[in-house]
Amino acid sequence: MKNLVIMDHPLIRHKITILRKIETKHKEFCELVEEISMLMAYEATRDLPLEKVEIETPLTKTVQEVISGKKLCIVPVLRAGLGMVDGIRLLIPNAKVGHIGLYRDHDTLEPVEYYNKLPNDVNERLVIVLDPMLATGGSVSAAIDLVKKAGATNIKLMSIVGTEQGINFVHKNHPDVTIYVGIVDERLNEHGYILPGLGDAGDRLFGTL
Ligand code: PRP
Ligand code: URA
Repeated sequence: MKNLVIMDHPLIRHKITILRKIETKHKEFCELVEEISMLMAYEATRDLPLEKVEIETPLTKTVQEVISGKKLCIVPVLRAGLGMVDGIRLLIPNAKVGHIGLYRDHDTLEPVEYYNKLPNDVNERLVIVLDPMLATGGSVSAAIDLVKKAGATNIKLMSIVGTEQGINFVHKNHPDVTIYVGIVDERLNEHGYILPGLGDAGDRLFGTL
């Protein structure tokens, strides 16, 4: 599929396997989500434009490259997307951070919005929407609707575990958005949870099991 990048790096695959394990406790779970997010951000920022600048080393003047223009805005989808923020900020400390609060209604699985705070220059930035779980795709699709409404035109999505159903749903609604996914799982169960999955990402991140 166009605009879909499935991570194939062995470190990412290895860390996702540990993330899935029922015995992986809260602290290690948070650390793994951070590490996986940092590794995925490396891939998702591979095509950032560069520009030439003149600098001076202790020895001479030289023309070198830096990232061009306004940089990034990352937008975690609350709650679970918050777990991905710190890992990415280690790589890109100047990224602005917007927040979108959505939860999935337990019966309908439809996303319900409860918070939305985005920087006012999202139209000038690459926006990366963050949510570790892409199940039906309803939540991230709604989050992308909101960042588009705020003016963003250059948008990517990063999810750690996805499904074909969720990827197709986001792609149908937002064909312009490149999806970076750590791994694509088999299916959803009758409650909308990803199988084999890793359970409820928000609960495992924040210890609310
Ligand atoms: C989870 C997850 C996604 C959503 C994925 O959030 O973090 O946002 O479900 O499901 P979808 O693709 O079918 O929309 P949840 O609703 O559990 O909220 P929480 O992060 O606040 O626990
Ligand atoms: N949200 C989660 O946290 N986990 C799933 O498997 C599906 C949605």
